[in-house]
Amino acid sequence: MGLNVIMMGPPGAGKGTQAGRFARERGLLKISTGDILREAIKEKNPTALAAQAQMDRGGLVDDAMIIAIVAERLGRPDARPGFVLDGFPRTVAQARALDELMARTANSPLIVIDVAVPEQELVRRLGSRRICRGCGANADGVAATSCGCGGELIQRTDDDQSVVRERLKIYQTSTKPVLEYYRERPTFRVVNGAQPPERVAHELDTMIDDAASAMSGERAR
Ligand code: AP5
Repeated sequence: MGLNVIMMGPPGAGKGTQAGRFARERGLLKISTGDILREAIKEKNPTALAAQAQMDRGGLVDDAMIIAIVAERLGRPDARPGFVLDGFPRTVAQARALDELMARTANSPLIVIDVAVPEQELVRRLGSRRICRGCGANADGVAATSCGCGGELIQRTDDDQSVVRERLKIYQTSTKPVLEYYRERPTFRVVNGAQPPERVAHELDTMIDDAASAMSGERAR
């Protein structure tokens, strides 16, 4: 049975950092809707380019478009051993669509992790984040002006202070209700994301393993 994890949390909580590490360490597929959209914009995909204005303003992209992207990705063979979702679902409509998809594929239950971080810290992190224009990697704490791959370090358009404020607002109105949608499930967990990344990683791994073994105990009964 696959390990299917959703990494939830506000912008800057560390979803991408932890999802990437966890997926790498466990050999799972990581699906980041933000990365997929940014990559498609770079490749000048017309649908993604149409969504770019919305992203640059800090708003959400159309549910139908995002659901189609995730459904297509989850249908590929490399998603069968399990996956980590980063940045999806972000609305209750997306969460419902994911449940329908999971029911059709008879997959393992979803393990939902909420990475909780106070707003002040989120604003600080996003204000200082730099990413590589070439490979898209985060490059915090790097004093150099270029990434290891040779790419230039830039600020993400949506990390501009006013856009960050809008993203946090949208998170409260559209994405927080998704936490309520999942909260009563036995596989819902909250991790304190305002700790050093290694500490968050340790707690998160323990929570996921605990939720997975609770699930398999439930199945055995
Ligand atoms: P997306 O790319 O998903 O952005 P986001 O959710 O706003 O998340 P971020 O990437 O900003 O933060 P994160 O939580 O992943 O943190 P990270 O690990 O990078 O989405 C962008 C846009 O695409 C959306 O606004 C929307 O328009 C559109 N979109 C995407 N998905 C969509 C969907 N499903 N529906 C509709 N629209 C969608 O870390 C942040 C920084 O903090 C980094 O610099 C990192 O190094 C640092 N950091 C991480 N952990 C720690 C720690 N423990 N301590 C200190 N610093 C840390």
